[in-house]
Amino acid sequence: MATHASETSVPPKKVIVMTGGNVGIGFECAKLILASIPNVHLILGCRDPQRAKKGVNNLVPFIPADSTSIVEHRPLELASFHSVRQFAEDITKSFPQGIHTLILNAGLMVFSRKMTGDNFETNVQVNHLSQFLLTQLLLPSLRIGHKTWPEEPSCILFVSSTLHKPGVGRGKGPELTIENIDGSVEFDGMLIYRNSKLCQALCMHALAASLKDDPDVNVNAVCPGFIPTTDLKRDSGLATRMLMDNVLSRISAASTVQEGGACVFEAMSGEKRSKNGAYFSKGGEDESSEESKDPAKQKFWWNWSCEAVGLENSKM
Ligand SMILES: NC(=O)c1ccc[n+]([C@@H]2O[C@H](COP(=O)([O-])OP(=O)(O)OC[C@H]3O[C@@H](n4cnc5c(N)ncnc54)[C@H](OP(=O)(O)O)[C@@H]3O)[C@@H](O)[C@H]2O)c1
Repeated sequence: MATHASETSVPPKKVIVMTGGNVGIGFECAKLILASIPNVHLILGCRDPQRAKKGVNNLVPFIPADSTSIVEHRPLELASFHSVRQFAEDITKSFPQGIHTLILNAGLMVFSRKMTGDNFETNVQVNHLSQFLLTQLLLPSLRIGHKTWPEEPSCILFVSSTLHKPGVGRGKGPELTIENIDGSVEFDGMLIYRNSKLCQALCMHALAASLKDDPDVNVNAVCPGFIPTTDLKRDSGLATRMLMDNVLSRISAASTVQEGGACVFEAMSGEKRSKNGAYFSKGGEDESSEESKDPAKQKFWWNWSCEAVGLENSKM
């Protein structure tokens, strides 16, 4: 755990939990959280202790000298439901005062078909299922958080992608079907990534509907823009990585990683966090795809996700 100032303040630190955040868009958002929200306890859920430690060390300089904020990392491997459950238990026990904000930022794009130890396709488990499970496990802590910080509702923010929409970007999809949810009928990394983000958007809307009359917690999603320079492409070939870093990063549709981080930060701040079921992008409030708003599909994929992660009681 790293801190700048001694802990003398009486009000409890706002507990903000983020998945990933040691690099990329999440890291840029974390910088803004530490630099501009006073008295925060930011926890990054990270899979690699060395990369996590480096990320935390790189964040510390952004804590103002007079701030009581702190940042730390704790183990979270999203390719394992067991790890997600351990992380959720750790957070719940460590913070009886609850959680103020949960940012589901971590994600990957895997271009070859790899099954996890839980026997789900990796893009689907890391980008959707595990963060769906984490959200369900941390909901009670988010409700408690609103009692601790009553001035604004607790907030869950999914980092989405416009690639969940048909016709956006290159490549096919999304084509979300139960037959090909594991990529066994047809594997195409981009298609499965898009499917994972559509599944995430469907379940975000379903969760928002279930929280409609709940004053304690809001849930929203944000697309940070097209940011070719992050590590998200680490699994692609050298030619694609070079194209992304050196050519696509210069096109007008591209954003910098700092702009992406700011977009996520804004979506968890001010007026935006008082919304429920909203979809934000760089320009402000936006629309998720028509398919993601289909209640029958939301119900189907919510129930499938509950069964997949072993949450029978949460079915719609
Ligand atoms: N870049 C874009 O153009 C773009 C556009 C739209 C949406 N997004 C979304 O933005 C989010 C952040 O992406 P990014 O572009 O910032 O990519 P990034 O630089 O690769 O960051 C991804 C983060 O997720 C973590 N992560 C990956 N797999 C994980 C796992 N199995 N368990 C725990 N943590 C894991 C990474 O940890 P390690 O450092 O250990 O790998 C890293 O902290 C993702 O959800 C992505 O889908 C990105």
